[in-house]
Amino acid sequence: MNIGIIGSGTMGAGIAQVAAQNGNQVIVIDTNLEALEKAKKGIESTLQKLVDKQKITTEKSVEISNAITWDNHFEVLKNCDLIIEAIVENLTIKQNLFASLEAIVSDECILATNTSSLSITSIAAICKKPERVIGIHFFNPAPVMELVEIVPALQTSVEVTSKAISIIDSWNKKTVTAKDTPGFIVNRIARPFYSEAIRIYEEGMASIETIDYAMKTIGGFKMGPFELMDLIGHDVNYMVTETVWTSFYFDPRYTPSFTQKRLVEAKWFGKKSGRGFYNYAEGAVKNNPESSDAVLLENIFIRILVMLLNEAANALYLNIANKEDIDLAMTKGVNYPKGLLKWADEIGISNCMDILDTLYDEYREDRYRCSPILRRMANFEEVFYTN
Ligand code: NAI
Repeated sequence: MNIGIIGSGTMGAGIAQVAAQNGNQVIVIDTNLEALEKAKKGIESTLQKLVDKQKITTEKSVEISNAITWDNHFEVLKNCDLIIEAIVENLTIKQNLFASLEAIVSDECILATNTSSLSITSIAAICKKPERVIGIHFFNPAPVMELVEIVPALQTSVEVTSKAISIIDSWNKKTVTAKDTPGFIVNRIARPFYSEAIRIYEEGMASIETIDYAMKTIGGFKMGPFELMDLIGHDVNYMVTETVWTSFYFDPRYTPSFTQKRLVEAKWFGKKSGRGFYNYAEGAVKNNPESSDAVLLENIFIRILVMLLNEAANALYLNIANKEDIDLAMTKGVNYPKGLLKWADEIGISNCMDILDTLYDEYREDRYRCSPILRRMANFEEVFYTN
């Protein structure tokens, strides 16, 4: 197939590599020639590393490299079957781009956006053929992360959705389908992993080291919330939280924290800037977690986990995705050790409800409200999975 990628930044370059590795002819467009050059060099160096590690042969790396052409003229996209846009996260700029693309491509070409936070429906609305517009949301780094969220707009045709799914499945990715709502699946359900951890820290219940330790040792998460936020970058992570919160009409469940906002203001973005919650300067000392306080560790873990389970259950309740896709999304998109709904079954739905209700009684804050689906299931002694 002929695939067009617009934007050769972090995501565009990664998606181009994935498409080329899977036998497609790829054209990458960027208005910035330096960005194009940087992306081209980046892919070449990645391919060389794969050859060095004997993951691919030299012939394959040449084949992949030759399958990608780099350009700054949009007309070369005219024969594309699918175009994936990965430019700056700005609605007006994306809408202008989609409107201009329609004048270039054939009627059959699918126009996809990799947006993380904008409404796909609002991008489709600008197009003459809105039924061909869809969200195809990759995770960073695109060549490594298996998950791709497919997000049909209100206007997207069933044919375009199933074609997009079959194309991305054929690129060795795991696709899940999400309703066009803020944060789709992963960026919505993952919010409490960060926000509840920060809340626990703000309350002085435990240190960042102890919270990270609890989530890793008891929960089996690969990284603790603070380590992960430092890695993602607080500028990015805070913006996602704030966008989800404002898009949900300021639902207290998603309220951002001042603690994280101050880090952004101080430009303590995390690992990339040398300082975030942790200090990455050479010789900086990391405090020891309170690893011997088993009760504290368990309390931290269960509080963050039930908040995640509640969010996953609520997404199912609101038909954002089906239960299998919700569980797959969290294990493949953010490497959670288990699907959250499966985890809720293991803990017991009534236990989840009781823990949430205890938190709600204590704080009287809406962020701790238990999803109606959990309450209903607890009443009827139901489980998400029967086997
Ligand atoms: P980036 O800033 O690394 O790259 C954007 C590229 O688009 C730049 O090279 C820029 O020169 C180019 N560009 C800007 N306007 C353009 C235009 N009108 N025409 C052609 N090229 C243009 O951005 P990044 O991080 O790759 O993000 C791209 C999109 O992917 C955004 O919508 C973002 O929300 C989304 N996304 C980002 C993820 C991430 O972790 N960085 C994860 C998933 C989605």
